[in-house]
Amino acid sequence: MHKDIEKVLFNEAQIEEIVGNVAEKINNDYGDSEIVAIVILKGSLVFSADLIRRLDMNVQVDFMQASSYGFGTESSGVIKIKKDLETDIRGKHALIIEDIIDSGRTLSLLKEELKKRGAASVKIASLLSKPARRVVDVETEYLGTEIPDEFVVGYGLDYAERYRNLPYIGILKPEVYL
Ligand code: PRP
Repeated sequence: MHKDIEKVLFNEAQIEEIVGNVAEKINNDYGDSEIVAIVILKGSLVFSADLIRRLDMNVQVDFMQASSYGFGTESSGVIKIKKDLETDIRGKHALIIEDIIDSGRTLSLLKEELKKRGAASVKIASLLSKPARRVVDVETEYLGTEIPDEFVVGYGLDYAERYRNLPYIGILKPEVYL
């Protein structure tokens, strides 16, 4: 285990099971309909790589990077798109792939944006969710698992751009970020 990790929350086998369950639901729902998997950089790259390999339909892959600026506890906010899709999403089934939902701002704004662009449908697959941190309600059609409000890293998730490469999801030792 990495010296900065206090505790492993999900090991590789547990992650594999969670990802498998998410993939199964997606396969059941979409059947043969082609989707555009929208990988939200950077955190979801590892989850996305594992998830799309378990999907049975035709899958196009594209990338977005965004940051949201909310206004207090209101559901309104502004999204800054740092990297945009290359795909014209109009008339296509968009599946947003995210590593974690925290306040919900990024995902609710992204979902709205893709609907505005005329996607045939927009759904979200998120590996993790911290319900205790939610400010904006966002419907998450495919959720891996809820987690407590702890500082988690690994399997794509970072702290100061580190730890994304850990194969497990762990809780960071407080002395690392305090
Ligand atoms: C994280 C995560 C989501 C967002 C969730 O990304 O991947 O995109 O924050 O937070 P929210 O629900 O409060 O909007 P981050 O901005 O840390 O970028 P990264 O994926 O590049 O690490």
